[in-house]
Amino acid sequence: MPAIAIIGAQWGDEGKGKATDLLGSRVDYVVKFNGGNNAGHTVVIGQPDGSSEKYALHLLPSGILSPGVTPVIGNGVVVDLAVLFEELDALVARGVDVSLLKVSANAHVIADYNRTIDKITERFLGSRRIGTTGRGIGPTYADKMNRIGIRVQDIFDEKILTQKVEGVLDLKNQILSKIYNRRAATVEQTVEELLAYAERLRPMVCDTGLLLNQALDRGETVLLEAGQATLLDVDHGTYPFVTSSSATSGGACTGSGIPPMRLNQVIGIVKAYTTRVGEGPFPTELEDEFGEHLRKIGAEYGTTTGRPRRCGWYDAVIARYAARVNGVTDFVLTKLDVLTGLEKVPVCVAYDVDGVRHDEMPVNQTDFHHAQPIYEYLDGWWEDISEARTFEDLPVNAQRYVEAVEAMSGARISAVGVGPSRAATVVRHELI
Ligand code: GDP
Ligand code: IMO
Ligand code: MG
Repeated sequence: MPAIAIIGAQWGDEGKGKATDLLGSRVDYVVKFNGGNNAGHTVVIGQPDGSSEKYALHLLPSGILSPGVTPVIGNGVVVDLAVLFEELDALVARGVDVSLLKVSANAHVIADYNRTIDKITERFLGSRRIGTTGRGIGPTYADKMNRIGIRVQDIFDEKILTQKVEGVLDLKNQILSKIYNRRAATVEQTVEELLAYAERLRPMVCDTGLLLNQALDRGETVLLEAGQATLLDVDHGTYPFVTSSSATSGGACTGSGIPPMRLNQVIGIVKAYTTRVGEGPFPTELEDEFGEHLRKIGAEYGTTTGRPRRCGWYDAVIARYAARVNGVTDFVLTKLDVLTGLEKVPVCVAYDVDGVRHDEMPVNQTDFHHAQPIYEYLDGWWEDISEARTFEDLPVNAQRYVEAVEAMSGARISAVGVGPSRAATVVRHELI
């Protein structure tokens, strides 16, 4: 039965957490398949008394908030064990049942030296920095590809763990001390820090690929939730200004052990405008009062680092690209409410690169850096849309905006977000 992927169609922070939460009651498993605690998902859950509870999740899949759902950290994730237990403890303190969590034995762990290397590499890069979250994500994935990474299963075999740490530190300590002039890490301390989590971790660890495929065999529903997004994907994003994992629907398979043929729906989350955190090209970026307006009304500050997000208009070229790369079957258009009160709403339909029109992503990154947006100007609306629950509840111009963006973006828009809470959603086509 169905495996469904939720992916970000832009540069992250599209509202994947809210979308996962929205579907949480209809699925049996929610799997994080890539990234680590670089992600930041804010989920707002309305309470019966009218108040709301806000959760910020980084390493854990957002599905952990849905009662009865089994949350899974897949093999494609990089796990900071200290953050894992901090996040679990914080949820337990708020009454969330986290007992079902499963962690892949093949996921890699983020060691202290990789957090250090992430931060100092950025400092050394100076103006060429990526603007990473400084969580050690890139260096840990680099170790995985270099075949010198430490995996979750290694924590349960002190001898093997010590051998692996000795091997990796032979190399890392050269880098730390000779290139960066930092104190070398010791094998004993590194091993001790990792071993400290072993007993608490042990009951959660299993072959998550087997678990998920057996669940699918039984007809259960598995939701695969991406961290980051298409334009931050290491293969398909704006390299080198990307994260170091596969955030697209292909990554949902490699990062979970679910084969591609079992994936029958891909839900792309796309914001009604665009944001980006960190460095890198961003054609529709606004450095004027409109950018400030979107940041303020949309509360566009990073959930993980608190950095102000760069803001710009909707870019249909990248939405189409995301639809193609991921095989998006449905889009969820989020934060439409943030666009209320604009006379005209510009939407980028193509780029001008040095006098040449591009309807698709330019082949060369240099051209993408030079891309000037070609805008179509849609009529705005002034009515408060936060209480809209059906498409017909939306003002006519908001409906036109959704329809126009849908026609440009390569897949149907099945739901529209009109506020942060789960209820503030207009459903046009049932997602599951
Ligand atoms: P993620 O990383 O993709 O899960 O997204 P983030 O949680 O980092 O950022 C999305 C932000 O927008 C969160 O603060 C959400 O609560 C909020 N949000 C999600 N959907 C909507 C919406 O439709 N309208 C408004 N106003 N806020 C939304
Ligand atoms: P969610 O899941 C937005 C960005 C960083 C930086 C680049 C590389 O909340 O959408 P990294 O620490 O991953 O090596 O940083 O990627 N980045 C994100 N931007 N949302 C995220 O996650 C991000 N995760 C990483 O800002 O530019
Ligand atoms: Mg986020």
